[in-house]
Amino acid sequence: MEHRLQKLLAAAGVASRRDAEQLITSGRVTVDGAVVSQLGSKADPDVSMICVDGKPIDVHPKKIYVLLNKPSGYTSTRRDPHANRVVTDLVKDVSTSLYPVGRLDVNTEGMLIMTNDGDFAAKVTHPRHKVPKTYRTELRGLVSQEVLSLLSRGIMLEDGLTAPAKTKPVGMNTARQTSVVDITITEGRKRQVRRMFETVGHPVMKLTRIKIGDLTLGNLKPGEWRFMTADEVRGILDMVS
Ligand code: URA
Repeated sequence: MEHRLQKLLAAAGVASRRDAEQLITSGRVTVDGAVVSQLGSKADPDVSMICVDGKPIDVHPKKIYVLLNKPSGYTSTRRDPHANRVVTDLVKDVSTSLYPVGRLDVNTEGMLIMTNDGDFAAKVTHPRHKVPKTYRTELRGLVSQEVLSLLSRGIMLEDGLTAPAKTKPVGMNTARQTSVVDITITEGRKRQVRRMFETVGHPVMKLTRIKIGDLTLGNLKPGEWRFMTADEVRGILDMVS
């Protein structure tokens, strides 16, 4: 049966759907030897040979889901030519075709799911599904209840009003004038948590994603990873189906 090429490339774990579109438009994809650079083109993987950079893709790979505790200093985009250290380096021995589900800033630590399942990645990152993500923030200044209420109601950033966030004060150090707050957001805008706290006058000194849905990091130290269990994958899929 014929399917759109970008869907087949994502299913084969070659790239996320968005990255797959770029592979196609940049002329790196061939079907039976002919370059296909038109988005929306279809092919039947049972009858045609689909290649990326001359290598045939496997449209039915074993699905892999990895939970990584991303250390600071690693970029979560797979193909960043300027990046020194990329998260895929940390899970190289598993598979070269894993890609991150969503992004964390280079200096953010914490939970990053990596998979070769393009549909899973597309669902989990789609804004419609509002998957909750919890971050532990270490902040400059002593954060008041009023500030937390502001964040809970939603604040105006340059790209619009943020959806209501859940906040939980974790601790304060009056001598150092710092606070620790957990914040749960359901959006995934660029540098969102940092921008939210900057806007209310409390720059983020350290940011760690500690939860996606109900999934926690457990004992994973920065730089360590493990395979997700079938129950954990199902738990996330239940939230987005
Ligand atoms: N919000 C941020 O500001 N940075 C991240 O890496 C993730 C969420």
